[in-house]
Amino acid sequence: MAGGGQIWFNGRFVPAAQAVVPVTAHALHYGSSVFEGIRAYATGRGPAVFCLPQHVRRLYDSCRIFRIDLPYSPAQITAAIVDAVRTNGHASCYIRPLVFRGPGTFGLDPRKASVEVAIITFPWGRYLGQDAVEQGVDVMVSSWRRAAPGTAAPMGKIGGQYVTSQFIAMEAADHGFVEGIALDAQGFISEGSGENVFVVKDGVAHTPPLSGAILPGVTRSVVLTLLSDVGVPVREEPLLREFLHVADEVFFTGTAAEVTPVRSVDRIPVGAGRRGPITANIQEQFFGITEGRLPDRHGWLTSAGAGAEAAAPVRGGAQSAAERTG
Ligand SMILES: Cc1ncc(COP(=O)(O)O)c(C=O)c1O
Repeated sequence: MAGGGQIWFNGRFVPAAQAVVPVTAHALHYGSSVFEGIRAYATGRGPAVFCLPQHVRRLYDSCRIFRIDLPYSPAQITAAIVDAVRTNGHASCYIRPLVFRGPGTFGLDPRKASVEVAIITFPWGRYLGQDAVEQGVDVMVSSWRRAAPGTAAPMGKIGGQYVTSQFIAMEAADHGFVEGIALDAQGFISEGSGENVFVVKDGVAHTPPLSGAILPGVTRSVVLTLLSDVGVPVREEPLLREFLHVADEVFFTGTAAEVTPVRSVDRIPVGAGRRGPITANIQEQFFGITEGRLPDRHGWLTSAGAGAEAAAPVRGGAQSAAERTG
């Protein structure tokens, strides 16, 4: 079951069945929560958490936006995440840190309600389907728009804001698509229900800017770095919807979706209708590093193996560059 095992709940581990909340919890009524989604990958040296400091940083940013005072330091949350992976004995897993308002008020100012923190871990395979990473996914442009500036706070990963994502996901499923891409309030491409989007045309990678109501994706940043590593120019700029139809390649990035090619949009094939070379190159880099086949040259992995120091960085890949070159 997703979220079984031991859950870190307000400072200690409890069996999942005991990590429960009262129905008076503010977050249940009004979406007053913030959360993260993180993956730990199986490497030759045990499980390693991907981009842990970046995710912890965004969790605190989300709390700041939502005026939540977290009763733990970033170092404590970081250690608790590593502990949760280790305690549950996962080789690889998805990690869901969740900060939510518990009981205390039914009023709309949430600050009279308690602040509760949970860290849930569970094994999770390919989010968009087993074949998606190679074959690509069929998507639609959603009829749902991302929130207009000043109507929500997309830079925060805030629970209540995920109602829009749920509308996008349900609409896509009901129409037989794997995912939907939402436009922003101005009609420019924004993002998927749980993924950022990249569009490749004529050897240049384009992706919507933060002002396009996107979540500042950790994987998006990773992929921007990898694109620069492999010498692909990038432009962060507003993108017209039809760019999806004239693109050579489109791909999603996200912790859950990892790097997944899009093979059609609104039933129109993207490029040749299969994964393109830049997508494949970025996947090779991404999975090479996360699976420990390539050196962790940017220091993105934090060991969560049995003997690991809490939050110790993994040095190099399964085989370091020095080892491989001799
Ligand atoms: C709405 C939304 N956009 C983009 C992303 C991708 O972000 P990340 O790469 O940090 O997982 C996510 C997933 O967290 C998301 O929920």
